[in-house]
Amino acid sequence: MKKVTAAMVPQDIASEAIPELISEGIADRTAKISKEGKFKLVPISQERIADAKARFELCETMAHSIERMTPQERISDMLAHFPEEIRAVLPMKWEFVGDVAIIKLPDICIGYGEEIGKAYADVLGVKTVCADISGISGEFRRPSIQTIYGTLTESVRLENGVLYDFDVTRVMFASGNTDERMRMRGTDCTGETVVDMFAVIGYFTLPIAKFSGARRVFACEKNPESYWFLLKNIKLNGVVGKVIPMLGDNRRIPGERFADRIIMGYVQTTSEFLPKAMSMIRPGGTIHYHDTFPTGEQEHRITRIFSEVCNDFEILGIREVKSFAPSVSHYVADVRISDRFA
Ligand SMILES: C[S@@+](CC[C@H](N)C(=O)[O-])C[C@H]1O[C@@H](n2cnc3c(N)ncnc32)[C@H](O)[C@@H]1O
Repeated sequence: MKKVTAAMVPQDIASEAIPELISEGIADRTAKISKEGKFKLVPISQERIADAKARFELCETMAHSIERMTPQERISDMLAHFPEEIRAVLPMKWEFVGDVAIIKLPDICIGYGEEIGKAYADVLGVKTVCADISGISGEFRRPSIQTIYGTLTESVRLENGVLYDFDVTRVMFASGNTDERMRMRGTDCTGETVVDMFAVIGYFTLPIAKFSGARRVFACEKNPESYWFLLKNIKLNGVVGKVIPMLGDNRRIPGERFADRIIMGYVQTTSEFLPKAMSMIRPGGTIHYHDTFPTGEQEHRITRIFSEVCNDFEILGIREVKSFAPSVSHYVADVRISDRFA
């Protein structure tokens, strides 16, 4: 904390007055704005005290210095002139895709989008800020993302040694699946043939191809836009030849009983694709089956789903990937198909 001279800006004119004090260089940007009763206390630069005094009553106060503030505090400080109901719901976490930051912005903030975006861009040091409006939808899991600041929307995310190049407004990205991507990276697939039935841009394919010891990975994706980035990422990560990209419906993948491991990274209608997975898996192979279930029901539901297509299997483990809805989670089950499976 340091002692500062502050302008007492009445709350009802703060949204116009504070940006003016900042843009005219009267506000001291190294100290934090605070609130007292019906006033915002805006620290003033020593050499501009006369200018501030001509407009507002001044007071002496203690203020936190900006350098000691977290990014969250700095964003909040930059938007100190916003109405309280907007400041109260400003997102305090974000995801980075290279030079792009993605925030979840409540509807009431959309009207303030550009100014909010600029504050996040300045504090987080990114070129573009995008607002995730309503998650992903449809067969292709298209994102509903709005650019609120900047123009560049394609960038490269580096995650656990894998480079993912994509356009955040055109391709889905599930930040909640990071641990699962990491788990796939660490899975021992030495010498295996792997099939990723829902590859998108290579979210599971790439860590497996780069780090797990797999011999080859067939990566199937139906959405041409995602597939285009999949091709780009195969080159970017140096796994050309090891990853065999396939554009189209995974139910048309040719061949039977050739896969040691199959990833079914889809939820809600995953079971419709299980007969196809069963036709591709070798006896003794493993299926990573993703789906959503009410919490507590996952084990018996997965047992029932597999019992309909296979008479001999073992559930090696089930893990919660992320929460999906109240009392419903996204799970992944590692299911080993028996050697005796005929
Ligand atoms: C939920 S996303 C996969 C998410 C990914 N596993 C992850 O963890 O980030 C499903 C993807 O499968 C693709 N897809 C849907 N149906 C398909 C099909 N029949 N064949 C191949 N790809 C399909 C969609 O276009 C979408 O990109």
